[in-house]
Amino acid sequence: MSKPVVVVPGLVRKDALAYLGEHVTIKQWTEKTKMPREILKEWLKEADALWSINNVTVDADLIADAPNLKVIAQASVGYDNVVIDDLTARQIPYGNTPDVLTESVAELAFTLVAAASRRVMENADFVKSGQWEQRPSNIKGKDLSRCTLGIIGLGNIGVSISRRARAFGMTVIYNNRKPRPDDKLYMVEYRDRDALYAESDVVLVVTPLTPETYHMIDKEAFKKMKKDALFVNVGRGKIVDTEALVWALNEGEIDYAALDVTDPEPLPADHPLLKTGKALVVPHIASFTDRTRRDMAMLTADNIILGVQGKPLKTCVNK
Ligand code: DGY
Repeated sequence: MSKPVVVVPGLVRKDALAYLGEHVTIKQWTEKTKMPREILKEWLKEADALWSINNVTVDADLIADAPNLKVIAQASVGYDNVVIDDLTARQIPYGNTPDVLTESVAELAFTLVAAASRRVMENADFVKSGQWEQRPSNIKGKDLSRCTLGIIGLGNIGVSISRRARAFGMTVIYNNRKPRPDDKLYMVEYRDRDALYAESDVVLVVTPLTPETYHMIDKEAFKKMKKDALFVNVGRGKIVDTEALVWALNEGEIDYAALDVTDPEPLPADHPLLKTGKALVVPHIASFTDRTRRDMAMLTADNIILGVQGKPLKTCVNK
């Protein structure tokens, strides 16, 4: 009997692909350029599974002529590029990769908080350019201890970030889910959005991108934050109105931004955000450690292997 066919429309980890290849036939787009959507649709006509990647919009249109598709899986926890309802309507399970990346994303999030609050990048640049003694006196660090971190989106990653913040002596408040009895255990307190903006020294976004959270952080939101607030985003770029963020930094509505995610991505090197001189931006690397990326890719491979066999996925969004 021939093996099920899995389409992989871009580059993914070789170790996970080798493991997957023991169970299925892989048809992979290996060009450096993005796979044209029409070619992907053509390949999907014969496919049993799709290993999707986040620059592909996965919706009813993409899978319209793919009668054999049994599963779609992607190596990320976020799935804002996927119209889940369209897959559910076709009874196609969709697998993402929660949990395996929680600690890595929390580590990067808190690295951004700590590095930005002490202006580590700017200060390292002064040393590199021989300006140790001449560095401007207005680039001062800020303490985190006895300050307040406001987390927008207290899921597993948010809770993990809150543990790190408490180790630094911060108070943690949150918004974007209802208060729960175990909040006391986690030492976090609910605030409505406006109160969170007003009280937080660091506002940190780690919520999924949905129609409700699209541009949730806009001019009005920045106006409500402290003038010396640090704004951090490890969720998705489009949760923030980037023009409003540039405005807020240039007008002194907030002090500084530290971002793992931006809109657009990649962020062009001449983007106004970088010209503010008040932003630390890294290229969407929150889960990018060797161990975590391996775990994410292996989980994706497992979800595909289970899906083509008609078995429940290990992690399924639409079960
Ligand atoms: C995810 O998995 O959604 C993250 O953005 C990866 O870093």
